[in-house]
Formats: sequence, C-alpha cells, structure tokens
Amino acid sequence: MPALRIAALASGRGSNLAALLDACADGRIDGKFVLLASDKAKCAALTVAAEAGVPTLALRPGDYPDRRSFDHALFDALAASNADLLVLAGYMRIIDPSVLMPWAGRAVNVHPSLLPLYRGLHTHAQALAAGDAEHGASVHFVTAELDGGPVLAQARISIGPGDTEATLATRLLVHEHRLLPAVVGAIAAGRIAWNEGNPTFDGRAIDTPLTLCSDGSLGAAT
Ligand code: GRF
Repeated sequence: MPALRIAALASGRGSNLAALLDACADGRIDGKFVLLASDKAKCAALTVAAEAGVPTLALRPGDYPDRRSFDHALFDALAASNADLLVLAGYMRIIDPSVLMPWAGRAVNVHPSLLPLYRGLHTHAQALAAGDAEHGASVHFVTAELDGGPVLAQARISIGPGDTEATLATRLLVHEHRLLPAVVGAIAAGRIAWNEGNPTFDGRAIDTPLTLCSDGSLGAAT
C-alpha cells in the first residue's frame, strides 16, 4: 500500500501537527504530508510545517466576499494536493458543509472534549462548570455537523479539585498528541474504515470509542 497522503488544516500553535509529523517520521504513521493550509497569514503551525519541508498555504478569509468563497478556494487547494486524508489539527473556523461533502470518510478532527459532550469552544471551562469528574479528547470523522461526526477514539483524564481551564488544557494536550497519531496511523494501515458512516476497526463496528493502550496503539474500550 502506498503511504497515505495527508493534508492538514491548522490555525494556531500546531502542536498536534508536530505530533503527526513525528509519527510519520518514526514510522508510527505510514504517511506523508502533502499540504498544511491555514486561515491565518502567520501562525506557529505554518512554521512547524515549513520546517518539516511540508508545502504550506495561507489564505486570508478577509480577502474573500463570504465564507463559502473562502472555503471553496481553500478546498480547491486541498483537492489539488491529491491528499487521501484531511486532518483538522486545531483549525478554528467553521467549514461550509458543501466543501466537506467530497471528504466524507476522508477527514478527521481532534476535539478537546468527551464528545458528544461540549461541541464548539471553551470545552475545558464547560467540563469544570458542569462539575464533571472526567474530561478528555476525541478524534472523530468530520461531517457537516460541527464536532458531530462519528467518534473513533477518546482519551480520558480525571478532573481534580485544583484543576483550572489552563491545567486541564495542558494535561489533556499530552493525550491529544498520542491519540491523533494513533488514529491517523490506524487509518493509514487500513485498520479504521469509514464504512458509509458506521466506522469499523479491524472490521468490527466502533460502537464505543476506541482507547489508547499503554504502548500507544488503539484498542477496543474495556
Ligand atoms: C487542541 O486542543 C485541539 O484539540 C483543538 O485545538 C487545539 C489545537 O492545538 N481542536 P494545537 O494547535 O495542535 O497545538
């Protein structure tokens, strides 16, 4: 099987992107980055990609009359990259559903909550405000619904009495950096499949999100 061609969208610091690049470099993902595109003219993710020799593209929403035309320009570039998989790695803009359609089953997102809890922004604050005992991160297939596609895998952390939004974000990020490469690696290996919206892992339905094993691989939740 040829290496998976991966494109990513990012708006910020790019730590999940860096984790994916590391996993491609050390063979945990049989993949090659073909494009990193951003809605920011400058951001750390663009630098991370450029330093790794990944082609970059920065488009400014303000240069387009509306969201749709911006998204069409961006997704034309993604299509031209011939990527097999699109990863939303900290991409902070809502995407027009019309451009996502051709990527059904070929796009994943990492989201800092135990979906279906807390879609959208401020997930750490929401988990604290709700008095939750646990928080976590999810990787899911992207659909037209914001943070709403089928969840593939989750990592969980306990919330302690001293936790703040900042401590939760910091502690969770470490887990995101293992979870996202594990999922992308499993997609590259053909172990996770879209199956028309009912994703499978090694041919079995993912009824409950997969979890990370201690060796960094994915397994069925116990
Ligand atoms: C991560 O917390 C991710 O879950 C969320 O945005 C943040 C991106 O961080 N979608 P980084 O840019 O990958 O460092």
